[in-house]
Amino acid sequence: MFPWSTLFLLALAHLVRADQVIFSDDSLSNGWQDWSWGSTIDYAATNIKEDASSLSVVSTAYSALSLKAPATIGNFAGLRFDIAGDNPPIQFYIQSTTDNSQSPTIPLTAFSKTVNSSAFTSVLVDFSQLPPTGAPLGAGTWDRINFQALGDGATYNLDNLVLVDSIVIAPKFLSAEPIGANVIAVTGQGAIDFTTLQVKLNGKPVAVKNIQTVPTVDISSKTITYLTLSSRFSPGSLVISAGNGTSFSYTIPAATNGSINQHNSFPINDRIYGVNFPTDAAYIQHLGVTISRKGGNAETAYNPFGDFTNAGNDWYFENRAADNSDDWVGWVQGAESEAIMLLPALDWVSKDATSYSYSKSVYPDQAKFDPYNADAGNGQLADGTWVTPPDPTTAYVPWNVTAAKQFLSGLVHKPEVVTIDNEIEIASNTHQDMHPNPLGYDEILQRVLNFGGVAKEALPTVQVAAPSTCAWWYYWTSTIGDSDKAAHNGSDFLPWFLQQMAAHDKATKQRLLDFLDIHYYYAPDTSANDDAAKALRLRMSRSLWDPTYVDESWINGTAYNSQPNPDKVMLIPRMQALIQQYYPGTKLSIGEFSSGADTELTGGLLTVDMLGIFGKHKLDQATYWATPDEKGPIGLAYWLFRGYGTTFGSQSAEVSIPSFNPDLLGIYAGTNAQHNNATLVVVNKDPVNPVSLHLAGLPAGSFFLRHFGGQAGIAKFQTTIKIDSADLLVVPAHTAVFLQQLK
Ligand SMILES: *[C@@H]1O[C@H](CO)[C@@H](O)[C@H](O)[C@H]1NC(C)=O
Ligand SMILES: *[C@@H]1O[C@H](CO)[C@@H](O)[C@H](O)[C@H]1NC(C)=O
Ligand SMILES: *[C@@H]1O[C@H](CO)[C@@H](O)[C@H](O)[C@H]1NC(C)=O
Ligand SMILES: *[C@@H]1O[C@H](CO)[C@@H](O)[C@H](O)[C@H]1NC(C)=O
Ligand SMILES: *[C@@H]1O[C@H](CO)[C@@H](O)[C@H](O)[C@H]1NC(C)=O
Ligand SMILES: *[C@@H]1O[C@H](CO)[C@@H](O)[C@H](O)[C@H]1NC(C)=O
Ligand SMILES: *[C@@H]1O[C@H](CO)[C@@H](O)[C@H](O)[C@H]1NC(C)=O
Repeated sequence: MFPWSTLFLLALAHLVRADQVIFSDDSLSNGWQDWSWGSTIDYAATNIKEDASSLSVVSTAYSALSLKAPATIGNFAGLRFDIAGDNPPIQFYIQSTTDNSQSPTIPLTAFSKTVNSSAFTSVLVDFSQLPPTGAPLGAGTWDRINFQALGDGATYNLDNLVLVDSIVIAPKFLSAEPIGANVIAVTGQGAIDFTTLQVKLNGKPVAVKNIQTVPTVDISSKTITYLTLSSRFSPGSLVISAGNGTSFSYTIPAATNGSINQHNSFPINDRIYGVNFPTDAAYIQHLGVTISRKGGNAETAYNPFGDFTNAGNDWYFENRAADNSDDWVGWVQGAESEAIMLLPALDWVSKDATSYSYSKSVYPDQAKFDPYNADAGNGQLADGTWVTPPDPTTAYVPWNVTAAKQFLSGLVHKPEVVTIDNEIEIASNTHQDMHPNPLGYDEILQRVLNFGGVAKEALPTVQVAAPSTCAWWYYWTSTIGDSDKAAHNGSDFLPWFLQQMAAHDKATKQRLLDFLDIHYYYAPDTSANDDAAKALRLRMSRSLWDPTYVDESWINGTAYNSQPNPDKVMLIPRMQALIQQYYPGTKLSIGEFSSGADTELTGGLLTVDMLGIFGKHKLDQATYWATPDEKGPIGLAYWLFRGYGTTFGSQSAEVSIPSFNPDLLGIYAGTNAQHNNATLVVVNKDPVNPVSLHLAGLPAGSFFLRHFGGQAGIAKFQTTIKIDSADLLVVPAHTAVFLQQLK
């Protein structure tokens, strides 16, 4: 007889996995290999130890302890290790040697902020929710674990590295917040028992009439549950208690009254939902990216006849291989995004993928050298002055309009927009090796005319965007400075530029400049990232539009320009007024902008506010710098407006709130021209209090709801809710919501 019990045991043996030890005491085990680089490693260190010895690591800048498994490790739940050192500046990532793909890089501080050298701290990396976004590691041929030092190198000890088979998650409420008209959004971990939960509004118990747990997208270890209450929210106290001591309380504030009017609307240019360098077609689709830009400092030296570029002052003036622009436009357009391609407009482009301008053998006294290439320097002496650059042919070949025309004429895939280079007003810094002389008004204009001209000849339907000026200071002056301005009748730069372009285009009877393109980075300093900095970050979007907002930066001091109200940026209306005055019909583009806080929730909330402002204030085009992480806060802002084909709509509709305070609230109404489906985006910038809105004109009925932020943090949540005309619409603190009417 066949021994069924044996088969059962065999099957069990196959199913029950065990933990796998990678390192303990003094050696690697289970076939793990040392693939480290630039590091001194002692497997039997005794300077600090658990049991007999530990593993000590001394890594030089950007080098790593790298351990390779004999087989893929994706089936394990996580990695546990003990670490000691004085908060060693290292980052952690998992890699595949098959295709070189890798997980996000995670700073040690994301796991533990208090690693010290007197005792080991135990760290557990849960593969189902990697910091900072909580995204899972995902499927892959993972077989390599790296502990990489940052720029100053790192010294630390490790012990007891173990891949763990399972991570048991104790039931836990992470958050419970009021949202919509009568819904409590609960996030949690583990198997939560909702039957013990009690909700009280103004002291009176409220029944929960429906409980819906939905899978969270991207963060499989958390759940979100929507509890629909039998009563609508009203001003007063709201207490949600788990029956065992855990509770969350809020004050639902009195209504902020206002109205929306879908019938008073105007078109949004959908090119405002752009990014620089989307990662792939799925990214474009998931985030609803409408236009993609291939730009930035390195593209200035892009040589299309070989696909080389040079990093300039961003990285030791080194050449490297570059993506082919023609192919790039092809795949981006294939993913249904429009394309903005940079056309180099200086006199040189990279000659190969390996040369660099400042060899140590020629310039031994430079202040810094590339940690990966000790011979490549930064071109500057210790006191910050530049060395005299070498012959440009050291790293470059000549570039001119003939070459540009040949390149553009040969394109198989034609971009919708060409920008004439990038921030060339500061090329004497960013590309000091090939353009050491400061650029002035005339040279910038001449290059736009020359290269914009060949762009229009080679691609007659292309739209030209220029001059892609980097910042407020250079909107009004040049690197040469006062003498240059004086030589141009004292005129500020951009107004002068618009006048010259208008005069040129009038003379040639052809529009060369389609977009006035500028870059915009906020001037206020929010780097402290404390509560005050976060509040400043969320209110500084007022500089995009608000004629009463005094910029909270050096801009509010000495003006250095002749513009009206120079202490207020009011960027979009200001630029639109200049265009109206000097070259009507020119569109306005912001080719680079940023929240300045790509991994911060408040950076994501600010980006939601910005995308709303761009639509409301009739901006024509905008591309975020650089690539937002699809699952990070900035990616979520795009997802909120446009994710997976569910969009804000083609029209911006009127919103009126008499007591509107833009420091604490952003609110944008939309509609689609075809069906008049109402949409609404609300950003509650208040860090503590929910906001309750009463909006006349918001249609009653069912709405699709998306949200991120609040205590639930950076993750995608969505459901369907109902709102009646008398209801309050509640939005939790530090949360962005998107509503779309379901007809
Ligand atoms: C060092 O880290 C250990 C483990 O995390 C901790 O118990 C100990 O209090 C820390 N010591 C100091 C001085 O911070
Ligand atoms: C009460 O239960 C919730 C959910 O199960 C849990 O998150 C919380 O830690 C518990 N609190 C106490 C004090 O046990
Ligand atoms: C908002 O409107 C309601 C009536 O719809 C009114 O009771 C309330 O006082 C208003 N709130 C404010 C702040 O004006
Ligand atoms: C561009 O450079 C090429 C070769 O270096 C030269 O033949 C051509 O005349 C130049 N074109 C212009 C407009 O100067
Ligand atoms: C120079 O500027 C003044 C005003 O500042 C203006 O009236 C005048 O027309 C300008 N001249 C030229 C040649 O642009
Ligand atoms: C002007 O900017 C500074 C920071 O540079 C800020 O401290 C100050 O509050 C600002 N002034 C006003 C009126 O906002
Ligand atoms: C908009 O409303 C129409 C009905 O008027 C409906 O068919 C359509 O699905 C709605 N669109 C969205 C995106 O909800």
